[in-house]
Amino acid sequence: MIVTIDGPSGVGKSTVTKALATRLGFDYLDTGAMYRAVALAMLRRNIPWDDAAVAAVLPELTIELPPGQVWLNGEDVSAAIRSPAVSQAASQVAVLPSVRRFLAEQQRRIAAGKNIVCEGRDQGTFVFPQAECKFFLQADARVRAARRAAELQAHGQTVTVESVLADQEQRDRRDALRELAPLRPAADALVVDTTNLTLEQVIETLERVIRARQAGAVDEG
Ligand code: DC
Repeated sequence: MIVTIDGPSGVGKSTVTKALATRLGFDYLDTGAMYRAVALAMLRRNIPWDDAAVAAVLPELTIELPPGQVWLNGEDVSAAIRSPAVSQAASQVAVLPSVRRFLAEQQRRIAAGKNIVCEGRDQGTFVFPQAECKFFLQADARVRAARRAAELQAHGQTVTVESVLADQEQRDRRDALRELAPLRPAADALVVDTTNLTLEQVIETLERVIRARQAGAVDEG
């Protein structure tokens, strides 16, 4: 079974995805980490955000995702990909069709034959249109920025809610307006607004839906 969880930044996707995977005994896939790894590679090589220039470098990149980590060409980049500069760069490489096709193909290969929860922006719409269970999380922009700021502050970064909000608005706009696989709910996704929910409530809501879907699938089989 493939479960997709899409939505904008700061909506709680990563935490919800990992918790659901643990509870269900599924694997999970953080596709944002893959865009971040590509962005880091391009920043380091000083490649301009141009589809042809970036496409020429993609064959040199090997991205591996051991549990909880991200490796780029044999180097652990788990921490390096979380910087604000890489966040911005990731939403810029994510506009490029060559990058989206390159990563979508890897994502389909990783998920093949598995029970897996895949989180991102286009998992239910573009990468896994056939997924059995699709969710789209959303929340008030200021609430998302406040959550994200608290998380970054806990990791020792000096940020304000205002600076996170400005950065987030720019990324959300870019993610929603791009031509290929923009951020939007799949027609058959369950949209969950997490503004006034705790993470536990979100996880429970989604878990209930997935288990019901699993039971339904067994009945039908
Ligand atoms: O979820 P995240 O913040 O780690 O994602 C980083 C960037 O990658 C984000 O700006 C949008 C892009 N992204 C995407 O376009 N499609 C995905 N499936 C996942 C992430």
